[in-house]
Amino acid sequence: MSNLLTELQTISTQLRIAPEQIKIIATDFHQAILDGLTGKPSPLKMLPSYLSKPSGKETGIFLALDFGGTNVRVLLTELLGQGNFNVKARAGNPLKDKNGHYNYISDQSSADQLFDFIATEIGSIIKADRNYPLGHTFSFPTHQTGLNSGTLIQWTKEIETKGVEGKDVTALLTAALQRQNLTNVLPQAILNDTVGTLLTAAYIDPSTDIGSICGTGHNTAYIEPSSPLTNRPMIINMESGNFDKLPLTIYDLELDKNSEKPGAQLLEKMVSGHYIGELVRIITYHLFDVGLFSASHGKDMIATPYLLNGAHISLLQEDNTTDLSLIARWLEESLHITNSSLQDREILKKIAALICTRSARLVAATYLGILQHIDPHLKNHHTIAIDGSLYEKMPGYAADIQQALDQALDAEERKVITTLTKDGSGIGAAIATAVAVNENP
Ligand code: GLC
Repeated sequence: MSNLLTELQTISTQLRIAPEQIKIIATDFHQAILDGLTGKPSPLKMLPSYLSKPSGKETGIFLALDFGGTNVRVLLTELLGQGNFNVKARAGNPLKDKNGHYNYISDQSSADQLFDFIATEIGSIIKADRNYPLGHTFSFPTHQTGLNSGTLIQWTKEIETKGVEGKDVTALLTAALQRQNLTNVLPQAILNDTVGTLLTAAYIDPSTDIGSICGTGHNTAYIEPSSPLTNRPMIINMESGNFDKLPLTIYDLELDKNSEKPGAQLLEKMVSGHYIGELVRIITYHLFDVGLFSASHGKDMIATPYLLNGAHISLLQEDNTTDLSLIARWLEESLHITNSSLQDREILKKIAALICTRSARLVAATYLGILQHIDPHLKNHHTIAIDGSLYEKMPGYAADIQQALDQALDAEERKVITTLTKDGSGIGAAIATAVAVNENP
């Protein structure tokens, strides 16, 4: 066998998640849930949301603020009940200017600068003559003591703005709204995007009990039948991206070592859109290093950290031309690699596929762990609501998740399905705000 084939086979074996391994990961994940719920050390933070399944009757007009990564969005959302809603207005902007004029998510920016920018976005879609109850989808690990207060535990997804970790995010937002004279905007609820996704899907389909994001970041929330806080059902934000009993490869270890927070968010670093391009890049660089990649002058380029993003990985998988000409053009135009061979392009495509399938299978294993906890004998049907670019757009990703679930469960019965739920951050924030307003009219 050629060196290349041997090397590729080694990489495939390292990245393969076999059915037996899925079972082990699911069981370990289940144990981490139990530990997290009972206050034992656990990689899962199991954060209470102070929300449970919506009734479907929530109505009203609410502002939804969505801050979970490099963009901020504001939506004016009308809930009509019976699972109906519409978005009446939208605004949004990147928090980091692509021409380098500003960057509110770097460690050079302060909390006040970040929240002033966010408040300006909110100001751009409201009128002065009425009050707006607001729900804030803040998609980072947040310790909540109630529906409207949350302290950022630590940034994830490589965000670094100073002065937000350890602070009450609702207080920071409220202060910025006051600085901008937007006192008619009234924050009522703060929630994670996984919680928003779950709420949005359950508003329409009550069989939904798990909400998940497979996008830039990765995380899952579920309805805990008996929350330790209330002994009643409550949605728990697991922060499952921090799960760590995982088959890490040398490539994962290298990515982690050079990341903002080594040791943290190990599952997220193996599966999510922010990192999968980097994993493909690290593996490709390794192939250059051992002399198995022929586009030799591309090596310097491929040495650039975070050169590849999730969209590039999609592109690699979408090219079904016989000579992989779309990949060739992209390599030339975007990466200035002009002399790639067909074999180089096939390797890149293969590595992208291996990384994506591994991601989907690891994610499915965690869903199985949750199901073991909430319905060990699988008596009921479960819908897992998922949002995010990987699940929505990555070729084969959704099918890989379903296949891993079907392999582990009784495929005939199909008691567990996954479904795309879009705009969960916007609609979910509105539902959470409706619940808050009802509780404290
Ligand atoms: C990161 C955040 C988490 C969020 C997820 C998806 O994992 O820590 O709170 O839900 O990204 O956006």
